[in-house]
Amino acid sequence: MDKLLIRGGTRLEGEISISGAKNASLPILAGTLLTSDTVTVCNVPHLNDVTTIIALLQSMGAMVTVDDKLNIAVDNSDISERCAPYELVKTMRASILVLGPLVSRFGEADVSLPGGCAIGARPVNLHVQGLQSMGADIKVENGYIRARADRLRGAHIVFDMVTVTGTENLMMAAVLADGETVLENAAREPEVSDLANFLNKMGAKITGAGSGTIRIEGVDGVGGTSYEVLPDRIETGTYLVAAAMTGGRVRLKRTSPDCLEAVLVKLQEAGASIAIGDDWIELDMTGKRPRAVDIRTLPYPAFPTDMQAQFCAMNATAEGVGTVTETVFENRFQHVLELQRMGADIRIEGNMAISTGVERLTAAPVMATDLRASAGLVLAGLAAEGETVVDRIYHVDRGYERIEEKLNQLGASIRRVPGF
Ligand code: EPU
Repeated sequence: MDKLLIRGGTRLEGEISISGAKNASLPILAGTLLTSDTVTVCNVPHLNDVTTIIALLQSMGAMVTVDDKLNIAVDNSDISERCAPYELVKTMRASILVLGPLVSRFGEADVSLPGGCAIGARPVNLHVQGLQSMGADIKVENGYIRARADRLRGAHIVFDMVTVTGTENLMMAAVLADGETVLENAAREPEVSDLANFLNKMGAKITGAGSGTIRIEGVDGVGGTSYEVLPDRIETGTYLVAAAMTGGRVRLKRTSPDCLEAVLVKLQEAGASIAIGDDWIELDMTGKRPRAVDIRTLPYPAFPTDMQAQFCAMNATAEGVGTVTETVFENRFQHVLELQRMGADIRIEGNMAISTGVERLTAAPVMATDLRASAGLVLAGLAAEGETVVDRIYHVDRGYERIEEKLNQLGASIRRVPGF
């Protein structure tokens, strides 16, 4: 398993470009299953999770080609398997996203239940209940969700809680259903809107994405298109925090400042000067130590759970006491235990991490436990004294494209070394 060796203490300075959003690319690639025409998806990041969803599509019979600009063309005209096997789902829970499109187009899908996860229980009951309200017959057998339907029919679905992939799955299921589907208490994440824009470009009739009520008027079929995925707001936020923690100054290009308001407000509260343009953000923290901030994770547009670990790392070296309250997942503080090993003064009380900032973290060997936790550890390594070794960085590679290359471009000193 590869490791990252991070020599800390350098302030980050310079500019880099942000990649396409992982959490928009995955549902969009799954959404290609709704048509037998070729669909081209552009600005897809080169990540392990993207490789997994492509492998999943290929295992079902998709023809996938990548051109010299890394645009991905998917031809789903010959889907012979309507199954997402355990071997792939266990490596990436987002594989569940093929459930909606498969049932919508083919009336059948066998998708492995994802099982437990490092950050919480993460059940998929709302995906299943929604499909049942649309007329699907669903059995759970041998660890698989087996869904069967003639044509799905439109339904009025009120989510018990806000679920991002649940909203996306049912939105895709509704595209080819008979009649209108209304999703209430729907997720408002920008990635949901991006998926809706993509589906509409294919010929779907979706309105209201980005609000809590999404309406999908079922159509008889959708066709091929070409679509560019929106920039990754979490990658953007991660590099902004990296600059803030190292007293640096960076400009991030090809991003979308509109999607990051809650994060930018907290960075300003921490003392950063922020300037934004149409597709760039500049953060200046030159020579300053961040002030600790209080954050509370909630569905969009509030503060994202996927930025929580990075802010835990920042609070660990900030001035004063800061709290991080996690309300979306029940077990998302694994990074705190590793940060403590780097000298952080953080205690966990229920779903809150209370941190008293220390002047300097000290390097230590640490272990990544999930994607965003590992991002938090990389940031801690950048600000720490000495050489931090982050193990199990396959987690980082699931969600950050060329992370060491981008950070080194900003002046960091990071090396990837092969492990055993
Ligand atoms: N939930 C249920 N039942 C369901 C679905 C969700 O109880 O049927 C609960 C979950 O257990 C959780 C809460 O609802 O407590 C919210 O989960 P959600 O369904 O919104 O999460 P997700 O769709 O599985 C996506 C992202 C995550 C991100 C969350 C929250 C993708 C592929 N994944 O997950 O991204 O943390 O939304 O914003 O879009 C990451 O990129 O590192 C990542 C984990």
